Amino acid sequence: MYFAYQHILMYHLECVNCGATYPADEILYNCTKCGHLLAVRYPTDEITISRGVWNSRPLSVWRYRELLPVRISPVTLQEGGTPLYHLKRLGEEMGLPYLYAKHEGMNPSGSFKDRGMTVGVSMALQLGKKSVACASTGNTSASLAVYAAKAGIPAVVLLPAGKVAVGKVAQALMHGAKVISVRGNFDRALEMVHDLCLTHGLYLLNSINPFRLEGQKTIGFEALDQLGEIPDRFVLPVGNAGNISAVYKGFLELNEMGFIDRLPMMTGIQAAGSSPIVRAIRENLPEVVPETNPETIATAIRIGAPVNAEKALTAIRKTGGLAESVTDDEILKMQRDLARKEGIGVEPASAASVAGIRKLVEMGMIDRNERIVCVVTGHLLKDPETVIKQCEPPIEINADLPSLLSALHL
Ligand code: F0G
Repeated sequence: MYFAYQHILMYHLECVNCGATYPADEILYNCTKCGHLLAVRYPTDEITISRGVWNSRPLSVWRYRELLPVRISPVTLQEGGTPLYHLKRLGEEMGLPYLYAKHEGMNPSGSFKDRGMTVGVSMALQLGKKSVACASTGNTSASLAVYAAKAGIPAVVLLPAGKVAVGKVAQALMHGAKVISVRGNFDRALEMVHDLCLTHGLYLLNSINPFRLEGQKTIGFEALDQLGEIPDRFVLPVGNAGNISAVYKGFLELNEMGFIDRLPMMTGIQAAGSSPIVRAIRENLPEVVPETNPETIATAIRIGAPVNAEKALTAIRKTGGLAESVTDDEILKMQRDLARKEGIGVEPASAASVAGIRKLVEMGMIDRNERIVCVVTGHLLKDPETVIKQCEPPIEINADLPSLLSALHL
């Protein structure tokens, strides 16, 4: 893909805490002055793109390239352009006529991470990096392996041993990443890979990398274009809290550019055994208190110390959003309901967003006429073991018609 840029707009990195700025080509993961998170800042008042031009392009991450940092031909597998489904039956059950799910499991590697990795791996090349790395609860590693393969560069991925769904490990292995299984949880694996990248020059592609989040903000842009109006509420499962921060940042930029006049209420859902953001919102804490032993069946969001917590708390608070937790049972019930009542196959973590809405509506926290977009983040086949455990096994029969009729009670 070749992009002719009419305006090569400059951008820079900015600390979300102290406001220190850094040139865009500096390889940094934290502010060197205060240690807080960085974000990419564009001169939004100088961007002349119209929504008409965007709408003339295919629905994909790259439709919005004027608001992305990549200035080379990107490493792409046609990510984004995922379906936005109206949840008619589930919405009727919950009394929510305008309930939607954006199915990010329909991306090339089966999760929303591909939006981040097409941008992140392209940035690795743009910045002259020769190898990439991440820690992961699974999906980030699968996606990084895929995009590193496409770029032709090596990838190292660190996984918490025994806590990653089998489909994700299979992807990381098959696409040729160096897969390291760490006897520790995700939070520890992330600290380790961060150290590795700082000391050995690999390019870190966890969501602490501000460029990766740029790709992920396009989930919000696409949903807005597909819905044709501003959603009232945007709901995401939260683990490391990168995605909710990214989508909020994207809406903020559209608001600065005058494309939208209000922001959706950003709503984060965590698993009950792993919910430091929910606690911080509930107790109005200035920052999260990390959980040392996070636990949930939704291994993708089994994270006790979300690195993007600072950004996520701002997103939820500034938009008047909500944070809620759901139990493993509530998550699995919604996974089955999405599969059987809407034909949407997602992994457990992904079902958390819609399960959270079911809970919030039952608690009376939501206006039933809201237009609600739930992001369902990863595909059913990522975690087949959790699926098989919940379902009746196939009925094995002898190879004759009477056996078939008997099995069908006919
Ligand atoms: N849903 C799925 C399926 C995920 O894989 C993740 C994160 C999330 C939701 C939460 O997103 O971290 O931006 O708040 N998975 C990461 C990984 C941590 O390593 O694959 P977040």
